[in-house]
Amino acid sequence: MCGIFGMIGNSAVGQTLTALKRLEYRGYDSAGIAVKTGNEISIYKQAGRMEQLQAIVPNGLDSTTVIGHTRWATHGEVSTANAHPFFSFNKRFAIVHNGIIENYQSLKNELTLRGISFASQTDSETVAHLVEANYKDDVFEAVKITAKSLEGSFAIVITDTVDGNLYAIKNKSPLVVGVDGQNVYFCSDIRCLSQYAAKVAQTPDNTIVVAEKNGKVTFYDFDGNTLPVKFFEPDKTEDFVHVDGDFMLKEILEVPEKIRRSKRGYFESGGLNLSAKVVHRIKRIYFIGCGTAYNSGLQVASSAREMLDIDVVPVIASEFIYDRYPVDSDTLAFFISQSGETADTIRAAEKVASMGGITYAVTNTQTSTLRYLCNRVKNIYADGEYAVASTKAYNCQLITLTLLINDIAYLKGSIDEVTHTKIIDSVDSLSIAIETVLNCGYSISKIADEIKDSSSVFFLGRTRDYPTAEEGSLKLKEISYIHSEAYPAGELKHGTLALMEEGVTVVAIATDSALIDKMASSIAEVKARGARVICVSPYSFEDVTSIKVPVVNRYLFGALSVVPLQLLAYYVAKRLGRDVDKPRNLAKSVTVE
Ligand code: G6P
Repeated sequence: MCGIFGMIGNSAVGQTLTALKRLEYRGYDSAGIAVKTGNEISIYKQAGRMEQLQAIVPNGLDSTTVIGHTRWATHGEVSTANAHPFFSFNKRFAIVHNGIIENYQSLKNELTLRGISFASQTDSETVAHLVEANYKDDVFEAVKITAKSLEGSFAIVITDTVDGNLYAIKNKSPLVVGVDGQNVYFCSDIRCLSQYAAKVAQTPDNTIVVAEKNGKVTFYDFDGNTLPVKFFEPDKTEDFVHVDGDFMLKEILEVPEKIRRSKRGYFESGGLNLSAKVVHRIKRIYFIGCGTAYNSGLQVASSAREMLDIDVVPVIASEFIYDRYPVDSDTLAFFISQSGETADTIRAAEKVASMGGITYAVTNTQTSTLRYLCNRVKNIYADGEYAVASTKAYNCQLITLTLLINDIAYLKGSIDEVTHTKIIDSVDSLSIAIETVLNCGYSISKIADEIKDSSSVFFLGRTRDYPTAEEGSLKLKEISYIHSEAYPAGELKHGTLALMEEGVTVVAIATDSALIDKMASSIAEVKARGARVICVSPYSFEDVTSIKVPVVNRYLFGALSVVPLQLLAYYVAKRLGRDVDKPRNLAKSVTVE
């Protein structure tokens, strides 16, 4: 959720500001930097976006040691006082933090009793004061004592006025370390850091990192023993693209190309990568994720139920952690996460691993925390996604998960070779079908004009169209702030029909020819109550606004029918003047539970 960056090297102020701009997708409530000049640290921080911070940083300011932060508020309102970095009480140290210090209240009470006063309402400020309170004559010792006293999830970077080193403490929140000659970097995001560093390393949990002015980096456990951590060359091929318009639209338009890439990547990386012996053992499959990633699991679970004769359960990660879902060695759990850093999904993966299940990460970030936690990993090859509302990653998750289920079903013998091959081949025609839908962008933007003032929007679908309804609804509410909900169409009459009236819009998704009559009845019911209806379907319905989609393979339909809904959400939000790439209150990567 928050983004942190720290570096020792030339032009550190400029580089940190550029990096923070790239990290803004992780939170954009406030931003700040701490700059060491001589034996002093100066902090510049401001509520609002990076532009607001840049406006208060003096021209020409430079240094070789800087830490920076972009915030997604958890503890304490959105304000400049609650923005990071934070000074320790005598300004000897400054820190930035991503995560949650769960025991901060008791630590804060102890510090307050010692006469230390706090400038913010945050949990993070506690860490700054603790480091100084623990300091006698050795900074590393103070950092070690501090690290041991913290509970929760944290990636913290500490800068010291005196020695010019950077110290980091890491548990559960992501922290990547980069080196390039004498330059050293700390960052929350490997894609961002790969633009700076020649070599990078993922910091393991419960680790302290010390970066010295000469470029030396050492990893320690919390007892001060050195840890062997491997550096590797990051993938630098994917440059950060600057777009003139919105990332979201660019990313929707990329869907056909990324789907092809997803399919190619799936086979180039060895396909399923589970032995026939393991596959035959599997008695239960979970699809676990949050937000859009959960919806992709919901969608593929519907195909998996048809293709496999075993229990298939999609579960929201945060529910899975605290509920009692059965797991044994015959359980396969897919953990779906664009970022691979979502705390809820990571905790759920840890739980399945501890219960002896097979953990399989499906992620867009090959070197993420989730990847290292799971027995298997599959990259979805959507490439960098920067708009907070996920689009192309959803389509690529659907393709990758469908190919995985297709292979499992074939190995298990529950589908034949012809069906297996047909599904693989159909991905190519799917891309073409999506291109035809993207060509209808103008007419979808006209529909957006019609519905932008709706009091509520309900998305309806049956069976495989219900997950699409969920994803369409999520997209619309997260970026337009219009109230929206998704329902299995048949469930509407059991309560929600009471809300149908003029001013309400219903988006009906109807791709299954066998269920057309049933959908027609649901449409008639809501129209009779005055709701406006928009239909996404290859078929025609009387007297409703239609967005026509071509017919594609039944198991791939979800990746097509969601595209007009992604565009619809985008155009509605634009018409309402919303910031589509950075919607209010949200962050792309939510690294706290
Ligand atoms: C946040 C984002 C959503 C995203 C979800 C899961 O809530 O706002 O767009 O779907 O996290 O993210 P992940 O990286 O795990 O797919």
